[in-house]
Amino acid sequence: MPKPDPTIQRANAPDFTLKMLDGKAIPQLGLGVYKTPADETAEIVDFAAGVGYKMVDTAAFYHNEEGVGQAVKRHHDLFVTTKLWNTGHGYDVARRAFDESMKKLGLDVLDLYLIHWPAPKNNLYVETWKALIELKKEGRIKSIGVSNFNVDHLERIIHETGEVPVINQIELHPAFQQRHLRAFHDKHGIITESWSPLGRGANLDNDVIQKLAKKHGKSPAQIVIRWHLDQGLVVIPKSSNHQRLQENIDVFDFHLDAADLADIEKMDRADGRVGPDPMTADF
Ligand SMILES: NC(=O)c1ccc[n+]([C@@H]2O[C@H](COP(=O)([O-])OP(=O)(O)OC[C@H]3O[C@@H](n4cnc5c(N)ncnc54)[C@H](OP(=O)(O)O)[C@@H]3O)[C@@H](O)[C@H]2O)c1
Repeated sequence: MPKPDPTIQRANAPDFTLKMLDGKAIPQLGLGVYKTPADETAEIVDFAAGVGYKMVDTAAFYHNEEGVGQAVKRHHDLFVTTKLWNTGHGYDVARRAFDESMKKLGLDVLDLYLIHWPAPKNNLYVETWKALIELKKEGRIKSIGVSNFNVDHLERIIHETGEVPVINQIELHPAFQQRHLRAFHDKHGIITESWSPLGRGANLDNDVIQKLAKKHGKSPAQIVIRWHLDQGLVVIPKSSNHQRLQENIDVFDFHLDAADLADIEKMDRADGRVGPDPMTADF
């Protein structure tokens, strides 16, 4: 049974933030823009900021950093995350890739930069991590983290550099709850950020989620997003639809109770992934 955490109970406003290891704050709910078309991104992020989103998650790989940058010009307070793609691994290459992303975003200082995948076959993620550490020291990035890192990847960068990533962004949703990795994060003070938090929509038809939606008078997506918030996770659902963008942020007027959380806990499956496994991903 998950233990109630008094800090989580305060997640009752869209500007609720979690404090990272480096002392900076990150909004707990944000907008993901993977597969958001480049020519629609500025309008969608603009709309999202207008209805209360405080954070946006993009990546070099999404080819829509320019659109995010255009919206940020109108919403200076948006917390921006972008990610270094696999072709940018290596110390010098990573620094150049960072410059390219910043040019596209039109920013001088970035809130959060993540290594998108460990790409263990290239074996360059430690060098890449060192580049992020330097960029942070130079004041060009406020916070640095990783994505899709397993325990062994995390242990290696921590051991070789002494710098603990503030966040690991990983696939996480009710059908794939990543308890082992989350326990490691908790031990080291690393925040867990959930990608594909709705299981790309696949979790929404589940009987448990449908039952809880009826019980709380909320939509299935709102139940799943509330579950992430109540677990103390940072959550970044993607939508390109105005109505669903509003629906996904309208989650601050209810909580799941212990019985609801226990029901969702049982949805976890070893084969529940909807995306690639970092150990075998080959791109
Ligand atoms: N680090 C990584 O490797 C990685 C990998 C994948 C994703 N991500 C990040 O995580 C974000 C979210 O993940 P994701 O985009 O893969 O999946 P997701 O957020 O779990 O699901 C998005 C899908 O659900 C639909 N949807 C959104 N809100 C809905 C609602 N209220 N009711 C019904 N359907 C709804 C969306 O359709 P509509 O757009 O039509 O609403 C879209 O098809 C990404 O955008 C990206 O920022 C990171």
